[in-house]
Formats: sequence, C-alpha cells, structure tokens
Amino acid sequence: MNPRASGARPIDEKAALLREGQGASGARPINDRAALLRYAGLEQVLPLGSRLNARGALEVGGCDVTELAREHGTPAYVYAEDDIRARARAYREAFAARTNRFEIIYASKAAPITAVYRLMADEGLSCDVASGGELHLALAGGFAPDRLYLHGNNKTEAELRYAVERGVGTIVVDSFDEVERLRRLAPGQRVMLRVTPGIKPDTHEKIATGQEDSKFGFGLDDVPRAIAGCEAAGLELCGLHAHIGSQIYELSVLERLAEVLDGMGDYPLLNLGGGLGIAYTPEDRPPSVDEYAEALLSRVPDGVTVLCEPGRSLVGNAGVTIYTVGTVKAIPGVRTYVAVDGGMSDNLRPMLYAARYEAQIADRFGGSDLCTVAGMHCESGDILIRDVELDDPRPGDVLVIPATGAYGHSMANNYNAIPRPPVIFCRDGAARVVVRRETYDDLTLRDA
Ligand SMILES: Cc1ncc(COP(=O)(O)O)c(C=O)c1O
Repeated sequence: MNPRASGARPIDEKAALLREGQGASGARPINDRAALLRYAGLEQVLPLGSRLNARGALEVGGCDVTELAREHGTPAYVYAEDDIRARARAYREAFAARTNRFEIIYASKAAPITAVYRLMADEGLSCDVASGGELHLALAGGFAPDRLYLHGNNKTEAELRYAVERGVGTIVVDSFDEVERLRRLAPGQRVMLRVTPGIKPDTHEKIATGQEDSKFGFGLDDVPRAIAGCEAAGLELCGLHAHIGSQIYELSVLERLAEVLDGMGDYPLLNLGGGLGIAYTPEDRPPSVDEYAEALLSRVPDGVTVLCEPGRSLVGNAGVTIYTVGTVKAIPGVRTYVAVDGGMSDNLRPMLYAARYEAQIADRFGGSDLCTVAGMHCESGDILIRDVELDDPRPGDVLVIPATGAYGHSMANNYNAIPRPPVIFCRDGAARVVVRRETYDDLTLRDA
C-alpha cells in the first residue's frame, strides 16, 4: 500500500470547495505530469483528493487502486473516507451559513453500510431509513434513535413495531392504512406526513416520485383528511415531507416544492426530501450544495425549520468501483466488448435507468479506443458502459468506474450466484475493509 498522503487538504477546506461547487478540483493533485492533463476532465467525478501517482495509477484516499486490486481482489467498491466527511460538512456549512433552523438527514438507501452510518453520525447528521433493515444498520452504526426518520410506502407491522420499540424519532406516514396501523401500534408517536405535491422533476421516470401518479404519499387533495386522521389517531404531527425525485439538476422544481409545502399550513418543520444530482461524467454540471441550500431556504419563511435528505450527493462521488478486465472481444466494424469481472450484480443503474458512467484503465488514463464495458452475467443487457474511450484495454488490466458510491452497493445482488464485492475505505494512504467480500459459503448460508 502506498503510505503517502495524497496531497490531501484538510477536510474542512475540501468541504468549502464542495459547497461552492468546485468539485474535486479543489483537491488538485500536487504533481503535474502529462497524465494529469488527460485526467483533468474526470476530477469532478472522482473522490476528492484523487490523483494519478508517479506510475500513472489512480490513487483514491492516497491508495493506489491497482495495489488495492492485487491485495483485495476485484470487483471492489473503494471509497475515500475524507470525501464523505467533506460532503457532510459542506451540507451542514451551506445551511448554517443561512439559518440555524435546519437538519441534514442522510438518506441511507444510497449506501447502507455500517461504516458510512458511523461517519454520518459522527459528522452530526440525522438519518433516513427506508426499511427495518436500514434501521437495524443505522442503529448498528451508532445513530441515536431520535435522529432517525423511518420512510416507506408500505412499512410492515413488524417494521413499525421495531421502530417503536427502538424509539425511532419520527415516522414519515405514507398512507391512510398506515395512520390506522400507527393508531394501534404507536399512539403519541411523532410523525410527518409524506405529501405527493404534483411536481415532476426532469429526471428518469423511475426515480421521479413527486408526480400525482405515484405510489408514495398523500396527494394534495387527501392531505387535509390525512392531517385529521393523524390527529384523531393521537399522533404528534410535526410537519410535512415531500421527496420529488432523485438526480435533479433543476433547482426551480425544489423552490416550487418549498413554496407548495409552505403554502399548506403553519408547520414548524418542512422536510423537502433529497434529490440533488451529481456528476457521473465530465460533461455533467450539477448545482453546488450552496446553490441547493439557497434554493430551498429562499422559499421558506424564517421560523420554519428546513430538513433535507440527501443520499446520492453525499456518497456518490466518494466511491469508485474497480474491476479486472477478463476478455476483449473486437467485432470488426461493430464494436469492441471489454468484459469485466462484475456488472449488473454490483451496479444495476445502467440497466435500470440507462445510467451513464465513465471508465478508465486504472494505470493508463486517457486513450482513444472506443469500447463497450460489459459485465460477466448471462444477459445481453448486462452492459456497464456503451461507448467509452479506453487506452488499449487488455486482460488483467484494472478498470475503474467513478461515481459508483451511491446505489451501487445498496442495489447489489447475487444474480448468477456472484458473490457481492467488498467495501474498502481509504484514507491518507491506508485502506481498511469495512464490508468483506461475500464467499461461496455465504451463498449457501441461508439454506434450510
Ligand atoms: C424519501 C427519500 N428521501 C431521500 C432520498 C434520497 O435521494 P437522493 O439520493 O437522490 O438524494 C430518496 C431516494 O429515493 C427518498 O426516497
């Protein structure tokens, strides 16, 4: 392992750069090898402090990813620990600069990893859990129960009981049936009401949630009846919640959301959900955390506490996935398939949402060979990236895909009985495995 610190700046300095939307460029590598010029376009998608070392290999958190591949195998999710902390601080500072009435809630579905929960709790965030399992992990990660918000359009009785037993602070009520369940299971419980405000952001339809035709929450017409239902059930309604979608670049829809919720009554708390988009490719230009905070807060009167629930934008760019190239199949005049030792089991987003990623050979950034990065699963659709330029990929090369820190590990599956990858945290040149790789024995562990 390379013990050298990666020219890293203190986390608070990184947080300041992030707030203002300067991305990883604030952590510009200290060397200026020619290779870095090729790398420049990718710095906004890579974790803060990433750089190419003297060998031209990518370092994340000061660790050479080709050495990580040798030591821990591939595929593997590699996170820069400082990047996650810096993004958590950037959120808190952006809001704190404008108000003292705010709460930043980590939407843990983005990366439900005990070590990530621990970091977020340590950075003073609250936490959104969307199931009993996420609740279990958040508690294991050290979150105080009263800092937890339980979500879900169909929380089971068992999940609600678990939440109540463990003293979860707030349950975000999603349906009339749930009001009835809570009346029986949790009289006096503090709740918020999830509203579906009829706002559709410009994002993939599978991650748009604010439109009227949605399985989530109460439509605007139903809200008065839901409020009355909560009161009659003896629940402590403290505010309204809405999450209109994910990977949003357009701040005007969030401003509109703030206005709509604020117009629905005098509530001390408004939770405006998550959704701030991130850069997956060098061309992507998401708004900064500062611009996001300004948009949310500008439409809410003083005296109202604004809550937000970022997931992707806290962890997405903090992580990369490393793979090993296994086969290269050139079909003249058609395309060249570069197959890696993972795919739709460790990153479902390309198949689910046609999500676009970048890739590089980890120690040969740059290159102009047009390739398609394919997974190893028995599906033609198991393509991670169609048409990406790589430098003469060969079997044995380590391939890196940036911006896989959100919804990669969390959506990982065992299709084709492929064991799921480990999660590795890197910091100042030291790597630690925070989730081990699954083994073949794990695959039979649940056999009854
Ligand atoms: C209720 C709720 N809050 C927050 C989020 C986090 O969204 P994002 O990761 O886009 O910030 C989601 C994502 O699905 C969600 O459903």
